[in-house]
Amino acid sequence: MNSYTSKGTGNPINRVEGKLKVTGMAKYASEFNVKDLVYAQGINSTIARGRITALDTSEAEAQKGVLAVITFKNAEKLAQYEKDLHPLSTTSIQPVLQSNEVHYYGEYVGMVVAETFEQAQYAARLVKYTYEEATPDIDFEASKPKAYKPTEQSDYSRGDVASGLEEADVTLDETYVTPIEHHHPMELHALIGSWNNGNVQAYASQQMIDNAAKTIADTFKIDKKNVRVMSPYVGGGFGSKLAAKQHVILALMASKAVGRPVQFTVTRTQMFTNTNLRQRNEQRIQIGAKKDGTLTALSHDTLSHTSTYEQYQESCGTVTKMLYKTPNNSVTHRLMPMNLQTPFAMRAPGEATGSFALESAMDEMAYKLNMDPVEFRIKNDTQVDPSNDKPFSSRLLNECLRLGAKEFGWEHRPKTPGTKSEGNWLVGYGVSGASRRAPFMKTSAKVILELKSNEVYATLQMDATDIGTGSYTILAQTVSEYLDIPVAQVDVELGDSEYPVTPGSGGSWGAASFANGARAACEQAMKDLKAVAGATDATSTAALMQASNLNTLEAEGTAEPDEEYKAHSVFSFGANFTEVWVDKDTGVFRIKRMLNVASCGKILNPKTAFGQIIGGCAMGAGMAIAERTEVEPNYGNFITRSFADYHVPVNLDMANIDVIYLPEEDKIANKMGIKGIGELGITSVAASIANAVFNATGKRMRELPLTPEKMILK
Ligand code: MOS
Repeated sequence: MNSYTSKGTGNPINRVEGKLKVTGMAKYASEFNVKDLVYAQGINSTIARGRITALDTSEAEAQKGVLAVITFKNAEKLAQYEKDLHPLSTTSIQPVLQSNEVHYYGEYVGMVVAETFEQAQYAARLVKYTYEEATPDIDFEASKPKAYKPTEQSDYSRGDVASGLEEADVTLDETYVTPIEHHHPMELHALIGSWNNGNVQAYASQQMIDNAAKTIADTFKIDKKNVRVMSPYVGGGFGSKLAAKQHVILALMASKAVGRPVQFTVTRTQMFTNTNLRQRNEQRIQIGAKKDGTLTALSHDTLSHTSTYEQYQESCGTVTKMLYKTPNNSVTHRLMPMNLQTPFAMRAPGEATGSFALESAMDEMAYKLNMDPVEFRIKNDTQVDPSNDKPFSSRLLNECLRLGAKEFGWEHRPKTPGTKSEGNWLVGYGVSGASRRAPFMKTSAKVILELKSNEVYATLQMDATDIGTGSYTILAQTVSEYLDIPVAQVDVELGDSEYPVTPGSGGSWGAASFANGARAACEQAMKDLKAVAGATDATSTAALMQASNLNTLEAEGTAEPDEEYKAHSVFSFGANFTEVWVDKDTGVFRIKRMLNVASCGKILNPKTAFGQIIGGCAMGAGMAIAERTEVEPNYGNFITRSFADYHVPVNLDMANIDVIYLPEEDKIANKMGIKGIGELGITSVAASIANAVFNATGKRMRELPLTPEKMILK
């Protein structure tokens, strides 16, 4: 739809920033032209555990163009963690090059700064390190005795699971495994940073720039008001850019040392070792149910690894606390310190992996009970969040399941696994429920109105980021709606820490939070305008400006959660249906088609929302069929180090996806009725695919990814 004639939200308009992107005009972090720019290249350790006993930088320093070689010996002293096993957050400090200790393979042990990128890369290879090596803890199984309760506790229980299991007619106790995965957004992590007398300016690729500014300020022990971070465009993040990682600090450290602006671009291989990963999870699920399908107990115990110096836990049990009604429930998370980098949030952290376990287990139970998997879920629905007794602001999970089953042709599935085929292909249908927290976070925005040739033009400013999701577009639509002007007359400026503060992009709160912040600023502008205009019969915004004798008007607004929001449990819901075909002999399989039904509040733009959901489906499919990072068992380096060996789905894998949105406006979630959509799409896709494979083959797949050899081997 033409964005020029369109007004307001709800229309499937093309992206307002689309042309900038396809013509290469949209600038990403490493594309800014900064005068006197020099380049830094990180050096990675070649052991997974131990310490540096000697190093020689002389050859590197003697190379043409080299300005500095920085290692733990000459790096400046940064803020330090107060204790070992520091709980990691999006605002954690990032100490780097602070000691001779090596904690994981590929950890930064130095950096070369040079006039050109090539000079820096070349010289980085000439720095010589001597290590005293210790045996690294890189074996998941062998680390199990070291499992501990993380400091930030997320254990939960209600009722008594043991007695719930005793009351049950049918029980299940299975463990589901997901491997180490990597985020790998298309745009590499990068920073162009300059340090000027304690003032920092940084072009960054960050999801949350206010937090990035805080990390920089806290790590260098300076005031946040002296830090300016700009991320106007971000080429994907998927959680890996929620926090400012070590390269951000290294680039600024380098700039401080050489007195020039520095570009630090993390290489694709370094994105395996120096940004983030999702850890391997082993999730044990226990379920008890009566013959009629009524749940009597649910428990979810997750075991994962973290690094030896920071703690990160993915709350896989979140879904099990709230998705189905049961009086007896328990959720635990345990961590093991290992010599791998600290994991961090990735693509629906908690729900994506947790739902694979829970929704696979629910499917297994349905077969054990001889019930339709759709009906088994519907039977255990609850409109009150059992984990906190708060009503859901809205929950249309049953409606998603019913509509999806009808539209997908669920009745054509083979009731007995392994009994439907097309030539040499076994055909199976799978279903899974989907849920994802839909937070609404405090957000501020500024809007500037200008009257030009009797038309109102508006500029919206906020420090929000567009990580590829369509924030520019939905915000232009929101301003258009609340100022009652065409989308074409709205300019949106994002990604600058000098603009009003937002929570940034993460956790599926972006659309709801940003749009309501923009709404609040526009409502303030209209209120101010009407106050100045006084009694008038002017109705249009332009007429009000004229009646007020104003050429420009600036207003700021803030939106934040109210009491009603806090009194409810706010989630988006959905259902995923998948048909797979599995070759009887080779185990090769195809995702034939997929239907995702989503209930996620008001849809601001059906076109960008569709992109979000199918993107989520592709990521869920990646998780199910391809993605895994392999650790070399002796040395602790990753065997998968590029896209040649870390596989993701391609278009052909995902040829046929349909999306249906249930019409909904959740006015409890926020005034505009919007709920998060970004991560809902991925949630449960893996379970839906694994459940379809079971339906096709009779083989239950409890370990991802579902590669062909698992289909044919017992
Ligand atoms: Mo998301 S994993 O909160 O970017």
